[in-house]
Amino acid sequence: MTPVPLLTLNNGVRIPQLGLGVWQVDPAETQRVVEDAFEVGYRHIDTAQMYGNEAGVGAALAASGLPRDEVFVTSKLNNNRHERTAALESFDRTLEALGSDHVDLFLIHWPLPEVGDYVDTWHAMEEIYESGRARAIGVSNFHQHHLDRLAAEASVTPAVNQIECYPYLTQDALRAYDEDHGIVTEVWSPLGSGTVLADATLARVAAAHGVSPAQATIRWHLQRGDVVFPKSTHKERLVENLDVLGFTLSDDEVAEISALNKDLRTGPNPDEFNWVPRD
Ligand code: A2P
Repeated sequence: MTPVPLLTLNNGVRIPQLGLGVWQVDPAETQRVVEDAFEVGYRHIDTAQMYGNEAGVGAALAASGLPRDEVFVTSKLNNNRHERTAALESFDRTLEALGSDHVDLFLIHWPLPEVGDYVDTWHAMEEIYESGRARAIGVSNFHQHHLDRLAAEASVTPAVNQIECYPYLTQDALRAYDEDHGIVTEVWSPLGSGTVLADATLARVAAAHGVSPAQATIRWHLQRGDVVFPKSTHKERLVENLDVLGFTLSDDEVAEISALNKDLRTGPNPDEFNWVPRD
């Protein structure tokens, strides 16, 4: 199988463009799913404190015997840990759960405009970065105006912005802003949590290449230059979702899929989301 392309982040760190996202993977099932993913060739795992399954990722890493530097692992700061001390302590717990002395990428999960000041939280992220225990830091669910504040008030530019993006929410303005500022766009729920898979246009484009709608959608993300991590708990789908490097969509097909956009979020608008877990 063709190797997954690597993108270079703004600090020189290289990131596999395709990985496995473990949002909504049951903590009890995570080790098995991630071990399956490693076995079929995945080398990039996207988890988060909020998912409750970092320990499963860590157990799979240990069981796989893979050298740590052959796997790219991302985690994210939970919404109840935005204050500096809580952020630093929770990062230590993330490393313990992962059984590792570093993460490859650590993100602020949500900006939470009414909870505190995400610029202060970003300064804690910068401390973590400067300690060398996160090879890169970034943000998730940030709009342009949030990024503008970091550009004005912070010293480290986020390496990535991880946002909701799929064919019904193409996010072209924000993706262009990220690119102009040296920020790699990562996309969460690249299949719209499965909601685009019955789309007639995707079915037609997929059939023209002898692939599934999921594969056509993942390929579309890759050709737009974004980092993508579809989630599946089924081994045969893990294989299918990685098998997207042997065909190329035409420019017209990419444009046709992009034209499906209807600015439809499956998740909350980050400007209105202020949910904080209790624990
Ligand atoms: P499952 O985990 O049961 O395989 P997203 O990555 O956009 O969040 O989408 C994940 C959803 O899409 C999950 O419900 C997942 O189900 C489903 N899914 C992932 N890959 C495929 C695939 N290749 N074919 C069909 N459904 C898929």
